[in-house]
Amino acid sequence: MSVSADDRNPLTRLTLDQLRRRTSVKWRLHPPDVLPLWVAEQDVPLAPPVADALRRAVDLGDTGYAFGTAYAEALGGFAAGRWGWADFPVGRSTLVPDVMLGVVEVLRLVTGPGDAVVVCPPVYPPFYAFVTHADRRVVEAPLGPDLRLDLAALDEAFRRARTVGDRPAFLLCNPHNPTGVVHRADELAAVAELAARHGVRVVADEIHAPLALAGARFTPYLTVPGAEDAFALLSASKAWNLAGLKAALAVAGPAAAADLARMPEEVSHGPSHLGVLAHTAAFRDGGPWLDLLLDGLDDNRALLATLLAEHLPEVSWRRPEGTYLAWLDCTRLGVPTESAGDGPGVASDLAGPARMFLDDARVALSSGHVFGAGGAGFVRLNFATSPAVLTEAVTRMGRATRSRAT
Ligand SMILES: Cc1ncc(COP(=O)(O)O)c(C=O)c1O
Repeated sequence: MSVSADDRNPLTRLTLDQLRRRTSVKWRLHPPDVLPLWVAEQDVPLAPPVADALRRAVDLGDTGYAFGTAYAEALGGFAAGRWGWADFPVGRSTLVPDVMLGVVEVLRLVTGPGDAVVVCPPVYPPFYAFVTHADRRVVEAPLGPDLRLDLAALDEAFRRARTVGDRPAFLLCNPHNPTGVVHRADELAAVAELAARHGVRVVADEIHAPLALAGARFTPYLTVPGAEDAFALLSASKAWNLAGLKAALAVAGPAAAADLARMPEEVSHGPSHLGVLAHTAAFRDGGPWLDLLLDGLDDNRALLATLLAEHLPEVSWRRPEGTYLAWLDCTRLGVPTESAGDGPGVASDLAGPARMFLDDARVALSSGHVFGAGGAGFVRLNFATSPAVLTEAVTRMGRATRSRAT
């Protein structure tokens, strides 16, 4: 299989042979005959400004401890240019090791042991695991049938959360993983109003924010009226494929400044200096590369629609507005899902359709059941790959489905 010669599209730059030399989990969990379209890593080379920043640091031996606010300033510039967030609060930002550890540390600031944390399944599985390991209790407010936030369900969940403990929180995912929904400003304002009414603190995981695709606009939660006491977690990790170079930022709204001040100092020692340099370069100088990526992802989203219609007409989906994740409803394929249940799990757990696609098509997807309520019978497909790999994967999935049926 060869990749297209469009060398402006970051998604067509690497061949499968090159990708298979990678040692990250995406490429090593499964044997080499499997096309891996599961974990949220992208099949792209590093953006040149990021690679240059790392190269400069390595050449200089600049591998000591991180210092200063360059990361927050770079994000502030990006946020102003892309999202119209004019007064990004560098002074209310702090380094955290990565987004999920940042979420946990922020939850420790705004909730107590045993308190409730509301999540909207189907949702990124570590929302369950990290919250539970931090000795907080998950309360579910499932997304609506349109996969958007269900405000009535949130109202009810916030009410229940108050009966669990005194200081509940809502862990918002925007853009939402796995559905790719980008929450609108009016939806976020309604969330803020509900949260204020119930005394629930909002923690917004905005790791996919730079990945709003053509037609969608990302609204930072902290810019929404009524969100003054909220926190947001941001990072360049998903958009520029920097998960291996850990560094993220926790940002506090004005009414959360006192909470942020209680963040233990050692938390900011977690990210590595190289991570901070890479993320800073991405937000400061990586915009043009990101635009090329977003064009490539938009093309892949359209290609996926065509491929699904041709090879898997029984599978339905809603076009993601952001992220590079497609949430595919495979319930009409008739693959038994009873072993999956409807409970959160480990990202690599497989059951139902995802198990069938791995065994019969040699395509690795994320199994819907690990995303909590409403996930069984679905799979999540990562389309941050070349059109050639995407085409081969969906073709194989269609073939496997048809041979099951005969
Ligand atoms: C919504 C969401 N939050 C957090 C993460 C993980 O981020 P980090 O590696 O910075 O903890 C991911 C990874 O895919 C994600 O999709």
